[in-house]
Amino acid sequence: MLPQWVIETKRDGKQLAEADIREFIRAYAAGEIPDYQMAALAMAIFFQGMTFEEVTVLTDAMMRSGDLIDTRSLEQPTADKHSTGGIGDKVSLLLAPLVASCGVAVPMLSGRGLGITGGTLDKLEAIPGYCTALSPDSFLEILATCGCAITGQTADLAPADKKLYALRDVTGTVPSIPLISASIMSKKLAEGSANLVLDVKWGKGAFMKTLEDARELARTMVAIGHKMGRGMTALLTDMNQPLGCTAGNSLEIIETVEALQGKGPKDLMEVTMALSAEMLVLAGVAESLETARVQLQSKLDSGEAFERLKAMVTLQGGDIRTLDETSKLPQAGLVEPLDAEANGVVAEVNADLIGRAVLLLGGGRTQVTDTIDPAVGISDLCKIGDTVLLGQPLLNIHANDRSKLDAAKQMAQDAITLSDSSGTAPALIVETIRPENV
Ligand code: URA
Repeated sequence: MLPQWVIETKRDGKQLAEADIREFIRAYAAGEIPDYQMAALAMAIFFQGMTFEEVTVLTDAMMRSGDLIDTRSLEQPTADKHSTGGIGDKVSLLLAPLVASCGVAVPMLSGRGLGITGGTLDKLEAIPGYCTALSPDSFLEILATCGCAITGQTADLAPADKKLYALRDVTGTVPSIPLISASIMSKKLAEGSANLVLDVKWGKGAFMKTLEDARELARTMVAIGHKMGRGMTALLTDMNQPLGCTAGNSLEIIETVEALQGKGPKDLMEVTMALSAEMLVLAGVAESLETARVQLQSKLDSGEAFERLKAMVTLQGGDIRTLDETSKLPQAGLVEPLDAEANGVVAEVNADLIGRAVLLLGGGRTQVTDTIDPAVGISDLCKIGDTVLLGQPLLNIHANDRSKLDAAKQMAQDAITLSDSSGTAPALIVETIRPENV
């Protein structure tokens, strides 16, 4: 295989041979193909796209570039969930223990936040002591003990993707559906879960800005996973307004605890229940989505799901006193409301701007090396359709710096639009995509 021939083939819009894709990825991961040739191929893929056969081979090659986690020793069936990310998306934190409490093991390898999108690992690290760097053996041990574990990806998991993603980031080749699909799926499939439910978000605060792009990404990933023998479903969900009423790491842990105690906001619960029910059905512990919902609700009502979260946090070294008494989590020094300047109905809560406000406060990163402040963020966020009166708080800002608080307040003000008439939120769950309809 001559790398330049492979690049030329794709540049000219022709299909790549399976052996060439596999060898190109192997050689790139091994350092035998330089970045400039990989970047040229990524750009050719960006413009010419890939057939389904090509993208499946690319995913498989990237998945096999490193370790594969073997979950076959677990007694329970396995299912995982992946979200393409958004503002206030703390679904993983409540879904993993909830689904585990219904008898499905949830092996979850998560990421950190970058830009406006928060990361599950950053949220969990707001809990003092919580370890997000488990070895594969401890990961499996914790899974076997309590049914769920959430940790970071090791360097040995899909290393070809790690290298390629960093290269795409600086060569303008991130927004390519074949490359995004192969990148996400190579990591998720290496995790060893037999079933995978995808939450593909669309809208202002999402990676995919249009519903059409989100649908295409979801369909591609469902088809890849199905072809590789995994149970797959994807939900297309709204990310034009943030999910739930908090954004910021410590604040999202508090909202998770409240949700597991039966006090979760409607939209957060709706998305969590819908994704969890799909996992139970795929894993074979529920016959239908309706019976799955009954099982899930009973685990919430009995407190078992919350106990499961505490068991996982304990096993991963976290201080569960902070979950029993959430005032022990990191707290910001300044908390100030943003008040409504008129009577009205909330017509828009722009997720992108709320994400930027959290970033300004220091709750996210603009570069991978940035450190984040777990205490800062936004709470008590109003939702589209809420009626508000002049002077009533639309949200609370939690900050540790006066000038950052003022800047974030301005940003949050710009995020919220009030109108005279009633506001209607976009549909929260737009569509369900299964292998039979892709
Ligand atoms: N997230 C990933 O893991 N990969 C992409 O290419 C885009 C988002």
